[in-house]
Amino acid sequence: MAALTLHHLSRLPASRHLSLPPHQTLSSFPRNPVKNLIFRQNLAESSIFRLSTVTVKALSPVAVEGSPEKKMVKGIRVYEHGGPEVLKWEDIEVGEPKDGEIRVKNKAIGLNFIDVYYRKGVYKPASMPFTPGMEAVGEVVAVGSGLTGRKIGDLVAYAGSPMGAYAEEQILPADKVVPVPSSMDPIVAASIMLKGMTAQFLLRRCFKVERGHTILVHAAAGGVGSLLCQWANALGATVIGTVSTNEKAAQAKEDGCHHVIMYKNEDFVSRVKDITSGKGVDVVYDSVGKDTFKGSLACLKSRGYMVSFGQSSGSPDPVPLSDLAPKSLFLTRPSMMQYNETRDELLECAGEVFANVASGVIKARVNHKYPLSRVADAHADLENRITSGSVVLLP
Ligand SMILES: NC(=O)c1ccc[n+]([C@@H]2O[C@H](COP(=O)([O-])OP(=O)(O)OC[C@H]3O[C@@H](n4cnc5c(N)ncnc54)[C@H](OP(=O)(O)O)[C@@H]3O)[C@@H](O)[C@H]2O)c1
Repeated sequence: MAALTLHHLSRLPASRHLSLPPHQTLSSFPRNPVKNLIFRQNLAESSIFRLSTVTVKALSPVAVEGSPEKKMVKGIRVYEHGGPEVLKWEDIEVGEPKDGEIRVKNKAIGLNFIDVYYRKGVYKPASMPFTPGMEAVGEVVAVGSGLTGRKIGDLVAYAGSPMGAYAEEQILPADKVVPVPSSMDPIVAASIMLKGMTAQFLLRRCFKVERGHTILVHAAAGGVGSLLCQWANALGATVIGTVSTNEKAAQAKEDGCHHVIMYKNEDFVSRVKDITSGKGVDVVYDSVGKDTFKGSLACLKSRGYMVSFGQSSGSPDPVPLSDLAPKSLFLTRPSMMQYNETRDELLECAGEVFANVASGVIKARVNHKYPLSRVADAHADLENRITSGSVVLLP
């Protein structure tokens, strides 16, 4: 049912029936200037609403006549794994926020490569059908009971779990969202939330990049890659980036890559050896996976860190532990989720990203925007290496 205000109620003829879903409560309505409205329905007598404008608590309304109306919004649903064509634009039920939850009307949704893994079935969703999407920015439109710390009208962002961002509205646990600074455009926020927090944990916690380090970033012009290069440059590292096209090379240079390697045409291992005078790099941030993994190990110096954080080209082949021995290498396969497990970690991580955007250390590259209804095109372009920087979907 559409938002119901005191204005509407006062205009209802006394005989008119009003059906409300049994799960809908007044707390889910937009803020009303009149607080604590009594909202009762006397079915036995005459279906007249008795309203008192000043008193007591909100009551759960009782449904009348027929099945309850469901809160429907437009969104994407996936019934089977496959290509971009399995992303179906449909009416989906959004429901009401429960204890500790909020309902958010999305303004901008971030597209991430992980969405492709879930669509294809590389990662398995909890159930089928499912609504993909793990990053969005929107306005709080309803607040469940219990402590949420949020109010209607707040602009919030989330990245990670739960999945379901490809929708006009979604229910979120209040403790998974962070407030968006008022100076930040929602589209910018949606472009740097998941990717920026990934850059934060990779550069600041997984391996701590410092002045004097030399680092290798694969897919340097991608969503995460662009932010990694800018941030690592600001930390004082020498940044080597790999890209597939001249346009991406130009962007990577602008983003602070000191050396750009065209890894489709050039042997990136020998180029890295040349650039580092045979020493190798301190750390490789490898999100490409299958096509680069072995070469990345070869680019490392003694006691270097192999950070394998994605598999855009496919999962890397298994590596025998003995491959790490000749250079005493470290190998990790990290995920942002484990680096932001607590509320404090999430707030600190997002706070650092927002602060770096505000100070200009990192610039969001919103290179592509698609209507949410056309997300299949966005997936195809991301997988076909056509995109650079961040891709944002607009509901
Ligand atoms: N572990 C984590 O917590 C975490 C968090 C976020 C993202 N990630 C990972 O980080 C990576 C980047 O994510 P993103 O959303 O920012 O995507 P993206 O980097 O914007 O897009 C992927 C890029 O990978 C490169 N690539 C190389 N081989 C490819 C292939 N066979 N197919 C497709 N792309 C290929 C392409 O750049 P070129 O054309 O220049 O080669 C492409 O633009 C993904 O692997 C993702 O899973 C991991």
